[in-house]
Amino acid sequence: MSDSQDLDVLLQEHRQFEPPESFRATANVSDGALYDSARADYEGYWADRARELEWVTPFTTVLSWKPPHAEWFTGGTLNASVNCLDRHVRGARRNKAALVFEGEPGDRRTLTYWDLYVAVNQFANVLKSLGVKRGDRVAIYLPLIPEAAIAMLACARIGAIHSVVFGGFSPESLRDRINDSQCKVLVTADGGYRRGSIVPLKRNADKALEETPSITNVVVVRRRPGAVSEEAFAEMKEGRDLWYHRLMRGAKQWCEPEAMESEDPLFILYTSGTTGKPKGIVHTTAGYLVGAQSSTHQVFDLREDDVYWCTADVGWITGHTYLVYGPLANGATCLMYEGAPDWPEKDRFWELCERYGVSILYTAPTAIRAFMKWGDQWPAKHDLSRLRLLGSVGEPINPEAWMWYREHIGGNRCPVVDTWWQTETGAIVISPLPGITSTTPGSATVPLPGYSCALLDSSAKEIPVGGGLLALTRPWPSMLRTIWGDDARYVETYFSRWPGRPDLYFPGDGAKRDENGNFWILGRVDDVLNVAGHRIGTMEVESALVEHPAVAEAAVVGKTHELKGQAIAAFVTLREGFKQSSSLRDELRNFVGEKIGAIAKPDDILFSADLPKTRSGKIMRRLLRDIAEGRALGDTTTLADPNVVSSLKDMYEANES
Ligand code: WT7
Repeated sequence: MSDSQDLDVLLQEHRQFEPPESFRATANVSDGALYDSARADYEGYWADRARELEWVTPFTTVLSWKPPHAEWFTGGTLNASVNCLDRHVRGARRNKAALVFEGEPGDRRTLTYWDLYVAVNQFANVLKSLGVKRGDRVAIYLPLIPEAAIAMLACARIGAIHSVVFGGFSPESLRDRINDSQCKVLVTADGGYRRGSIVPLKRNADKALEETPSITNVVVVRRRPGAVSEEAFAEMKEGRDLWYHRLMRGAKQWCEPEAMESEDPLFILYTSGTTGKPKGIVHTTAGYLVGAQSSTHQVFDLREDDVYWCTADVGWITGHTYLVYGPLANGATCLMYEGAPDWPEKDRFWELCERYGVSILYTAPTAIRAFMKWGDQWPAKHDLSRLRLLGSVGEPINPEAWMWYREHIGGNRCPVVDTWWQTETGAIVISPLPGITSTTPGSATVPLPGYSCALLDSSAKEIPVGGGLLALTRPWPSMLRTIWGDDARYVETYFSRWPGRPDLYFPGDGAKRDENGNFWILGRVDDVLNVAGHRIGTMEVESALVEHPAVAEAAVVGKTHELKGQAIAAFVTLREGFKQSSSLRDELRNFVGEKIGAIAKPDDILFSADLPKTRSGKIMRRLLRDIAEGRALGDTTTLADPNVVSSLKDMYEANES
């Protein structure tokens, strides 16, 4: 996508789709005047959205902005779990399904708002009984099962800060995240199901727990009843490890919610950056919830009878905002599916859509491209006529995939919303509103009401039409507030791109803007990769590789991949005494998998005697990208030894064929 030829192709995309009249007639937002009123009175617009939450004490100030630090809705207190649960069980949604769960093996469970409310209250009491207090951190390392949402909301209820770590991350990644924010309790499971096999979460957690002194207790959810009897589960450590279901049996069904200050942290979520160390993105209670609730209402157009399915895992921001907080705040019925889309067959998603009558589907381009490749026959076997809206997130969606999604999943009848946002923005920033925006395949269109984006050049000059760096030019309620324990890195990473302009937020993405004012997000312009919609820092992979005894030096770049958007290519020089071989290549791939997680395994590893460097010793990644993409080499005149790169290119090509 970052190739300039691709850009031109993109911008020649002229297909336009208007919202169907029937959709517009009933949409939650059916009048474009909302954009104008938000522009005319920015703070007033957000104050109105904030008043749609339930407050314990109303806020007194909408925004205090001392660039680059913002505070929203101060003076007020509220509780996120009350907003997601209590206000529904008090009213007509008490017995409405909140979570409809299907495990990968086919086990099913439905939790009504009442059921979820009771479980959250009970687990909040369990956490309290383990000594967890307001402001303490709780790590959650679970499969995609209802207990993940229960644990998150239970933390929110007592004012503890949750830190969810994706179940696909390795023990070392879990350990580092636990230690960075000094978590007190870890909530995990005996295992989870993925593509028919078991992810041994507790076993992974045990490895992490060898070096996590802050953890006093581990709560273990029994995901696999019968697989091992409780007593025989050898992995339980006396005194420290406790079964979730046993703790819940004795727990009281009411837990007084903490009245949280608007700016109290709600959660930390780690994401990759340009260094080897992941960043703990901090989101606060009121602003985050305002962004989650209002964007879910506007973009997914939720109606009372919708069955809404966001396929993301709770380990990512999409799972936080659009599987838990946003839809539950809106009182929606949410499908939650634990496993892989191709298990046991390649129509699992469509079978789920048909069985549960899914009406809104939110998934990622990587998945859509895989569905395309698997063939039209899989969705065609199922009745998808209840679908009325489709969403996409995580990476740029190519127009072919967009069109296929619209036609084969949406029956040419459902609007497609391509939503651009990030872990740091907390909620969707650029997206169509399905009842009013005319869409073009490949463009996320324009910022939602209350957001202000611009394309800037490197001196902060606005580019009305053409390519540049994406910026958010005003603070927004669900923006990250800092990086846990490292505010300097917050300032440096997000607000230092344009010197002297600490008011401009830099997301790390490049974009183009067309004559209609639509944004086309082109992807990262920093050393961050987006593999299958997941963010991985090149430095993280490089640091993992050089920890292997055979590796002297490593450089990692992204290359275009048909399904995953980007794949990881690593160039590795070996230490004296080590010989390249295909078994060493496999070993290194697995080594990275063990260090970080399977998503970070390089697709290609090229062994090389040398890497292209400038005379000052800096690795020229640009040239390595040219090699990995099979392009003609760019300017090589600044290289210390131009021969290195041409021989590398020959080797790479020989390796591929
Ligand atoms: C990065 C954020 C937002 C939740 C999932 C990923 C890329 C995200 C789009 C989109 C083009 C997109 C950007 C962004 N991205 N959505 N609709 N079109 N690119 O969250 O891990 O924080 O990654 O994903 O590059 O910066 P994340």
